[in-house]
Amino acid sequence: MCGIVGYIGTKKASPILINGLIRLEYRGYDSAGISTIEKENLSLMKDKGRVKNLYNLPGIDDLEGTIGIAHTRWATHGKPSKENSHPHMDNSNTFSAVHNGIIENYNELRKFLGDNGYTFYSQTDTEVIPNLVHYYYSKDTNNDDLKFLRAVKSACSDFKGSFAIEIICKDYPDNMIVVRKDSPLVIGKGDEENFISSDIPAILSFTRDFYLLDDLEFTVLSRNDAKFYDINLNQIDKKTKTIEWDAASSEKNGFDDYMLKEIYEQPTAIRETIGAKLNENSKCEFDELNFTKEYLENINKIYIVACGTAMHAGLVGKNVIEKLCKIQTEVDIASEFRYRDPIIDDKTLCIFISQSGETADTIAALKLSKEKGAKTIAVSNVIGSSITREADYSVYTHAGPEIAVASTKAYTSQVMLLVILAIYFAETLYINEDKIKELKKDILELPKKLEETLKISENIKEFAKKVYQETDIFFLGRGIDETVAREASLKLKEISYIHSESYAAGELKHGPIALIENGITVVSIMTDSKLVEKTVSNVQEVISRGAKTIVVTNQNIDDTMFEKVIHIPTTNSFISPILSIIPLQLFSYYISKEKGLDVDKPRNLAKSVTVE
Ligand code: F6R
Repeated sequence: MCGIVGYIGTKKASPILINGLIRLEYRGYDSAGISTIEKENLSLMKDKGRVKNLYNLPGIDDLEGTIGIAHTRWATHGKPSKENSHPHMDNSNTFSAVHNGIIENYNELRKFLGDNGYTFYSQTDTEVIPNLVHYYYSKDTNNDDLKFLRAVKSACSDFKGSFAIEIICKDYPDNMIVVRKDSPLVIGKGDEENFISSDIPAILSFTRDFYLLDDLEFTVLSRNDAKFYDINLNQIDKKTKTIEWDAASSEKNGFDDYMLKEIYEQPTAIRETIGAKLNENSKCEFDELNFTKEYLENINKIYIVACGTAMHAGLVGKNVIEKLCKIQTEVDIASEFRYRDPIIDDKTLCIFISQSGETADTIAALKLSKEKGAKTIAVSNVIGSSITREADYSVYTHAGPEIAVASTKAYTSQVMLLVILAIYFAETLYINEDKIKELKKDILELPKKLEETLKISENIKEFAKKVYQETDIFFLGRGIDETVAREASLKLKEISYIHSESYAAGELKHGPIALIENGITVVSIMTDSKLVEKTVSNVQEVISRGAKTIVVTNQNIDDTMFEKVIHIPTTNSFISPILSIIPLQLFSYYISKEKGLDVDKPRNLAKSVTVE
C-alpha cells in the first residue's frame, strides 16, 4: 500500500527519492510523485503509472534540491490520476505533503477549508493536509523557528484516522517534518543526511541506524539532526536502533523473482526462527516472555487474530496449542474480530500475527483487546513495527525481509514460531509428555527436510504447465491439511488470478461437489495418518465425476488413482504444514509464470495493508 520516501542531506535528492520509491514498489501502487525544495520554490513532479515514468517527466533532470519527499499511491479516495497522485500542495504552494493512511474526517475539513477560501483540485483526503497546515501557519503571527512545527501539530490535532505524513515548506528549506499515527514510517540516520521511508528495507543500503517513531511524535529533520517533540511540543529524546538485516538479503540473489527466492529461503528462515529457543534437552526459552504456570492455568481462552496468510498460520497454531496445552483457542480474522464485540477479559490471552507488523486491522484488534484487559503477544517479522510496540510482549519470526506480495517464508516461519510458543506454554504448565520430546526432535530436523522437499517439489512445474489455463482449481484437506488447503488456494488466487476455493474434504458432499465437472483440477493434501483414508475416499468421489487430481502426501497411498502425487518427507503432524505448503507455493508460482504475470506484484494487492 502507499509508500513514502524522503531525503534531507547534501546530495541531489531526486535520484535518491526515485530509487527509494522503486524499492517500495512491491507494496503495491498506481501512481508516483516527488517534490523537492529548489532555491526558493517547491518542485512537484507526479503522474499515474509506474515509478520509472517519473524519469520521463520534463524538468526532472534539472532538479537540484537536496531535500525532498516522494510517494507511491495506492488509490483509496479518487481514481488513479495525476491530480490524485501525491505529493499535494496547498493553494499558495508553500507546503508540499505526502500521506499514507486515511484522514477519516476529510469531508468535514474540506468544507471548513472551503468556507475559508481554499480550493481543492483532487478527490483525495490528503489534499486537506497541506491546506490545513497552511491555514494554521497563516494565522500564526510568531515568526520563530517553530512556526512550521506548530502549524503541522495544529493540523494533526484535527485529523481523525491514520496517517504517516512528510511535509516540506518553502520558507524552511533546511527542515522537513515527519509524523505518524497508526501508519508506518521510519527515519534512517546517515552522515549529514537523513532518510525517511515507509519501511526499513527501502533505505537499508544507506544506513542501518533507524529512529522508530511512536504515534504522534513530531520529528523536525535537518541535515545533521533529528529533533523529536511530543503532542504538547515538548522535546523528547530518542535513540537509534541498529537493524541487523543487510541490504543484500533484500535483493534477488540471482533468482528471477523475489517470490521464488523467498520460497527457497525457507530452510534458513526456519533455522533462524528456531534459533536458540528450542533444544532437545532443555525447556524452550523466549527471552521476551515471563509467563508462569499459575498465569497459564488461569487463562480462560486464547484468541489468535490476524489477516490472510498470517491467519492461516494462526489456524495451525490453534491446533497445536489446543492439543498440547489443552487451552481453548479461537482464530479470528482481524477485520471481523474488531467489530464483533469479542468476549475478552483479563483471563484472555490474545496473540496477534503480522509479518509486517503494520496491518491496520490487526493493530486495531490488538488495541481493542488491550482495552478489554487481555494480555497481548505480537508475532511479527519486523522489529520495532507498530504491532510490536503496542503489544505487551513481542516474539519474532526471523524470516528476513519478505518483498514479494504473496507471503511464503513468513507463513512457514509464523507456523514454526507458534508451534515453539505452544511448546513453551506446555512446558511452563509442566506438561511433560513424550510427544513434546518427539516434536522437538522433529522440529530440529525440519530445515533439512525442507531442503529435501524443495528438491522434490520442483517437478510440480510440469503439472503447472498442464493446468495454467484453467479457470477454477479446488483444494481439499482434513484436519491440519484443511488449513494448508486454505493457504494454497489463497496463494493461487493471488498470483495466478485463477478462481480457487478450498474445502474441508468431508464437507464436499454438502454442496460444493456440485461444482465438480469433467476435467476440473482438484488438489488434495494428505499428511495425517488418522485421516488419510477418509480424504482418499472424498477424492475418489471427485475422480468419479471426472476431476484431475493432484495429491501432496507423506503417507503410503495408491499413486495409480491420481494424476500426480508429490511425496514429501514424513514429519510430526503439528509441523507438517511447513512441508506440505512448499509444493503448493511452487505450483502457484509456476502457474503465474506460465501465464506471464508479475509474480511479485500481483494486481490490486499491497504488501502492507495499512488501511482497513
Ligand atoms: C497473502 C498475504 C496476505 C497477508 C496479510 C497480513 O500472501 O501476504 O494475506 O498475510 O495481508 O499481512 P501481515 O502479516 O503483514 O499482517
